[in-house]
Amino acid sequence: MNITLKPTHVVDAVTHPNPYPFYAELVAQRPFYYDEALKAWVVSGAEGVTEILSHPACRVRPLDEPVPRGLVGSAAAGIFQHLARMNDGYKHLELKQAINARLARLEATRLMSLSQRWAQEFWQAGTSLNEYSFELPVYIMADCLGIPSDCLSETVRWVRQFALCLNPLSTPDQVGIGKMAAERLWEMLEPEQGEAWAANLIGLMFQAYEATAGLIGNTLLAIRELGRQILERPHLLPEFIQEVIRFNPSVQNTRRYLSEDVVIGGHALRAGDTVVVVLAAANRDPQANRQYFTFGLGGHACPGARAASIITQAAIEQCIQTGVADNMHALGYHAYPNLRIPILQERGQ
Ligand code: HEM
Repeated sequence: MNITLKPTHVVDAVTHPNPYPFYAELVAQRPFYYDEALKAWVVSGAEGVTEILSHPACRVRPLDEPVPRGLVGSAAAGIFQHLARMNDGYKHLELKQAINARLARLEATRLMSLSQRWAQEFWQAGTSLNEYSFELPVYIMADCLGIPSDCLSETVRWVRQFALCLNPLSTPDQVGIGKMAAERLWEMLEPEQGEAWAANLIGLMFQAYEATAGLIGNTLLAIRELGRQILERPHLLPEFIQEVIRFNPSVQNTRRYLSEDVVIGGHALRAGDTVVVVLAAANRDPQANRQYFTFGLGGHACPGARAASIITQAAIEQCIQTGVADNMHALGYHAYPNLRIPILQERGQ
């Protein structure tokens, strides 16, 4: 008999074969509660998630730790402190407007044809399916943002290494590699772009990386499990991807930190409290209208949602054309505290 144990926690749930019955239980029984083991509030109901993500006292960084302690003094800290994702208030507003304006310049048809070209090139180069899902989105984003073609491959390598020092599950050696890569990226971009914009260009490439790899991977798994009709009717793919974004998102949770004492949803939260916002659970809240929280909400909502969907579509079309979509499986999930990214493998490899 095949018994799948339930995850015990929102943190275990992220990489569990099926976290959704557990999330359903959370939403039904404890949509907003304080978790003693995590020492954090866990909010999974759509109403609470909406309130937290829209509340001005819910900040993206703890007030006493604007930059993770382990990064202080490194180029990685220099990048981190300027990221729109990691700031609130006027600084965030200004950066977010610049990012939105830059991404709005990526015209959909051009982004699609560029994504298709890169997807094909990667395939012809014999890249493994797992590498393909991780590298392709960063290549496309780096190319769109104007990284010169002779610097693309090293830039992508550095962005991937930089991501290591932002993953709390990385080893000290990996953090060291990430910090060195941050120096290389900084040396390349800061002199011409200035500190704040260089940091956010790196941010855009970095943010296109793991979350989109997960979106590509989860879409391939969904096609394998229930989407044979997509293989026969590929024009349904864009809608199918939107449903994967709701149903099995790569970003499962995010966090907020309280800047003052407030009452939210009838709960008294204190300055300094942490909130784990379970986006993947709120996406399926039966009390809410059908909607998704996968790309966040409010001021910090993801500006890359459209680009991520286009890149994923091009990546999957290539997998369908080459027959890989019908001939792959997952070996489990990569280790992340909040990202659900399958480890992909082609059959026979
Ligand atoms: C081309 C790919 C992508 C780019 C360039 C991108 C870029 C960004 C940026 C710059 C932010 C920070 C916005 C801010 O703080 O104001 C952000 C936030 C976010 N992104 Fe993306 N992103 C991409 C793909 C994705 C994907 C595929 C997902 C999920 C499946 C995702 C989920 C999120 C979420 C949940 C947030 C908000 C986090 C929070 O509020 O705590 N992103 N993204």
